[in-house]
Amino acid sequence: MLVPAKEMLQKAKAGHYAVGQFNINNLEWTKCVLTAAEETKSPVILGVSEGAGKYMAGYKTVVGMVNGMLEEMGITVPVALHLDHGSYEGCMKCIEAGFSSIMFDGSHYPIEENVAKTKELVAICKEKGLSLEAEVGAIGGEEDGVVGMGECADPQECKMVADLGVDFLAAGIGNIHGKYPANWQGLSFETLDEIQKLTGELPLVLHGGTGIPDDMIKKAIDLGVSKINVNTECQLVFAEATRKYIEAGKDQEGKGYDPRKLLKPGSEAIIDKVKEKMELFGSVGQA
Ligand code: 13P
Repeated sequence: MLVPAKEMLQKAKAGHYAVGQFNINNLEWTKCVLTAAEETKSPVILGVSEGAGKYMAGYKTVVGMVNGMLEEMGITVPVALHLDHGSYEGCMKCIEAGFSSIMFDGSHYPIEENVAKTKELVAICKEKGLSLEAEVGAIGGEEDGVVGMGECADPQECKMVADLGVDFLAAGIGNIHGKYPANWQGLSFETLDEIQKLTGELPLVLHGGTGIPDDMIKKAIDLGVSKINVNTECQLVFAEATRKYIEAGKDQEGKGYDPRKLLKPGSEAIIDKVKEKMELFGSVGQA
């Protein structure tokens, strides 16, 4: 059964580790992330962007697929199904479809509007039993056609949004989605430290997990990050393994063209990558 992400993240914050949010793109992705979580006994969050939701034929399809897998694969670890960077309308659709957690990304609105919309969603999520993530300070890079600059959030604005009763908060600290450019300045730990001092026990979220060096990830966890989002890195290892299979001509040997064979090396690469991240984040054995 799907669970909200609140409790697993509060436990992670208290235990000084982080739970991974791995974005899913299709059936293989979902199965791989769940396999890695179950085999390592890690709690896990399945992230679905609005674009990925559309790609997978809508939120109801996603909910049906995930619930089916939890049952048929005999998954015992806590799993949250979470909307990633949701619009207000997207949040409402996911609440209705049966997601257990949502992120409302109002970071592109003036802070007053972000606060007003987040506040409304706090009330709705509390009533329906979902967990809610909010965002302050746009996270850079490109995701679903939305390009942010990787700014640092204003700690006072973070406190303002935290005080609305959200369950966890994504704050920009110089992180960006996708690959980091060669001239990237690194994470702003001063900003993170200030935010955590003002927001106390509230679990903080680090987006753009791909390509952040391990020591920075560990330091971020020390400073209160309890949820780390990873998407691009799984896509890269999947593409690389699939390319190798094709380049070796394996699709032309026997029934190597069967999608169950063709997608296997990529799937195994995702499982390995997710396990590696769970190890790094410290969530292994915490389910
Ligand atoms: P990456 O694609 O950089 O790993 O970021 C994922 C993310 O933050 C999803 O919200």
